[in-house]
Amino acid sequence: MTALPHRPGWLLDELTTAGRENLDAEHVARYDQKEDADAADEVALLTSLGLDHRATVVDIGAGTGQFSVAAARVFDRVIAVDVSDVMLRALRAKAAAAALENLTVVQAGFLTYDHAGPPADVIYSRYALHHLPDFWKSVALHRLHSMLRPGGILRLWDVVYNFSPADAEVCVEAWCATGSDDVGSGWDRGELEEHIRDEHSTFTWLLEPMIERAGFTITEAVYSDDAFFAKYVLTKSVQFGVPPLSTI
Ligand SMILES: C[S@@+](CC[C@H](N)C(=O)[O-])C[C@H]1O[C@@H](n2cnc3c(N)ncnc32)[C@H](O)[C@@H]1O
Repeated sequence: MTALPHRPGWLLDELTTAGRENLDAEHVARYDQKEDADAADEVALLTSLGLDHRATVVDIGAGTGQFSVAAARVFDRVIAVDVSDVMLRALRAKAAAAALENLTVVQAGFLTYDHAGPPADVIYSRYALHHLPDFWKSVALHRLHSMLRPGGILRLWDVVYNFSPADAEVCVEAWCATGSDDVGSGWDRGELEEHIRDEHSTFTWLLEPMIERAGFTITEAVYSDDAFFAKYVLTKSVQFGVPPLSTI
């Protein structure tokens, strides 16, 4: 496993929270059979929000690159970022097979990725932010905000709990019961239990103030019926950028 670049002693080591399975070659080899990131629909969503081919897109927690590869067929510059070198190996193989020269792959995390060049028009992140404990989620959201142009978009899709703590036991038990019996296809009960126990998904009513505090407007929030998933379109408020000349 490749070590990440030097970091101060107080900074979270994102490999320690990256998720056991995301560093496991066997899991990564099966990932695309287990999980469909709806990449074509996600690219279409970004296009419907006004993005055109000139866009710079950063995908953080890119995994095997289902979204990055689809995005790189449409947008001029795509940067796929992930802490897991096992995931990135799979992603690089796909990018090479598709001869996508506009897709750059970077091994880094939410807390260490340094964006260079023109600011991003879109940051995309699916099923990754929950790997950080809440303090670090807040820091990460602030960092993502600083990488975007004013008016830029953060598309955030994650496991986020949209229920009350009083209902946690019942809701979590019901969710874990949806796990596949067939270990190896889909997400099995043990993996769902591991998510709840060892990862850092939080409540919508904790995450959303963090999002707003980082300077984003919640333009759209869609919650799944089971109250375990949230999909956000977040916009970098223009007042955080340089105001247009006409308002000075
Ligand atoms: C469940 S996978 C999702 C992959 C992809 N986004 C998708 O939707 O298919 C979570 C990914 O987040 C990555 N990850 C975990 N912690 C991270 C961090 N702190 N910074 C960046 N990526 C991280 C993992 O290595 C893994 O590839």
